[in-house]
Amino acid sequence: MAQDGNRKVYVKSYGCQMNVYDAQRMADVLAPEGYVETGEVGEADLVVLNTCHIREKAAEKVYSELGRVREMRREREAGGAGMQVVVAGCVAQAEGPEILRRAKGVDLVVGPQSYHRLPELLAEARRRPVVDTEFPAESKFDALPQATPERTRQRGVSAFVTVQEGCDKFCTFCVVPYTRGAEVSRPAAAILTEIARLAAAGVREVSLLGQNVNGYHGEGLDGADWSLARLIRRVAEVPGIDRIRYTTSHPRDMDGELIALHGDLPAMMPYLHLPVQSGSDAILSAMNRKHGRDEYLRIIDQVRAARPDIAVSSDFIVGFPGETDADFRDTMDLVERVGFAGAFSFKYSPRPGTPAADNAAQVPEGVKAARLAELQALLDRQLKAYNAATVGRTVDVLVEKAGRHPGQMVGKSPYLQPVAFEGGGAQIGDIVPVRVTALGTYSLLGERADIEPERATA
Ligand code: SAH
Ligand code: SF4
Ligand code: F3S
Repeated sequence: MAQDGNRKVYVKSYGCQMNVYDAQRMADVLAPEGYVETGEVGEADLVVLNTCHIREKAAEKVYSELGRVREMRREREAGGAGMQVVVAGCVAQAEGPEILRRAKGVDLVVGPQSYHRLPELLAEARRRPVVDTEFPAESKFDALPQATPERTRQRGVSAFVTVQEGCDKFCTFCVVPYTRGAEVSRPAAAILTEIARLAAAGVREVSLLGQNVNGYHGEGLDGADWSLARLIRRVAEVPGIDRIRYTTSHPRDMDGELIALHGDLPAMMPYLHLPVQSGSDAILSAMNRKHGRDEYLRIIDQVRAARPDIAVSSDFIVGFPGETDADFRDTMDLVERVGFAGAFSFKYSPRPGTPAADNAAQVPEGVKAARLAELQALLDRQLKAYNAATVGRTVDVLVEKAGRHPGQMVGKSPYLQPVAFEGGGAQIGDIVPVRVTALGTYSLLGERADIEPERATA
């Protein structure tokens, strides 16, 4: 094993943005133990796979990755070095000891609520394989250390902050209530302290995360229960924070106060990710989504009334048990009506322990595939049309990094579109007006709208 202070950890995250945030927190808890992050599995003393259980494919990926990691471990051991292997995240929570049975060479299986205990669990795992999937009484958030300013800077000017975790909604297809547990909201004071530290290290944009982020109801600074809207108003007052995003929202919790914020708080970005899953009332009801298609369409109307240029994105599941052609047409019709700026769409994947998995009316794979292709073609056309409509407009871009060409910088528009442009001296963390001139393959292309073209291209 390498000397203390010189150990390397490789963390790979699958799944949602909360896993990305969790991976950073794990790196932060390991840093005082002498671990520095590496992007190379082969040179890692410690490998952490931060897994996702949402669909079968996501969960199965872990086992093929564990096979590759095992090879690396053998090579390292042949060279006299060691490697500890950790499975964290939602597969760890859902499958627990089963992982040790299915995959050889795993030292520790740890669920999302125990990351603060990583150092002691790793020490214990040197003696024998350990599984920890408890939901401990103490909150990991109270025990997890914060990143140093240096690490925060390396991670960039846009940061994730978990404000709410877990879910009590129990949609009939979904594993999250089982893998992340019951809904818990962090107190506003802890969130604001974390964001102030991020801002002091150069962060200008925060994305507030939660499985049901708009169901946030944490303890406020005044001791009262705060809604997400109240929390966001206060976050906007943190010096240095210019942009605020939040994800993922549930239509049931989209209250008037939050909608109004989109119209009257400048830091609130004009982007809303609001999963609908299906456009059919029968399917929405079978999914236990607790709202109908008209309610969803009404919310979108209200949000657009507050902020006409808002970009709306969503998640869709096709081939939920019992979904007929007519149900699927309702989904296509809803998509036509709303006009999305982006979306994730999936074939229904039966998940162990969820009610819909036992439903006898499973939709054949071929039908799911055909529906998904049709839906994705429509969503893709909408995305292209949305981006094309930006050409000719000037948008504020938060500069995130250097581009591929010399002098080029890359950042995000308020609508979450990647924009590449001739930097003209713009620095990472600047927010600059960029005139969008063309559509690139992966981003919009533009030029600075605030300086002369000669200087911009010099
Ligand atoms: N909390 C969010 C979504 C969490 S999971 C919400 O309530 O909308 C992210 C997305 O994965 C879901 O929106 C859904 O579209 C998809 N998903 C979840 N379970 C799935 C399953 N069993 N099969 C296919 N897609 C699924
Ligand atoms: Fe899953 Fe539904 Fe909860 Fe979202 S609201 S995490 S889809 S159970
Ligand atoms: Fe996956 Fe867990 Fe996130 S199942 S989507 S990593 S909450």
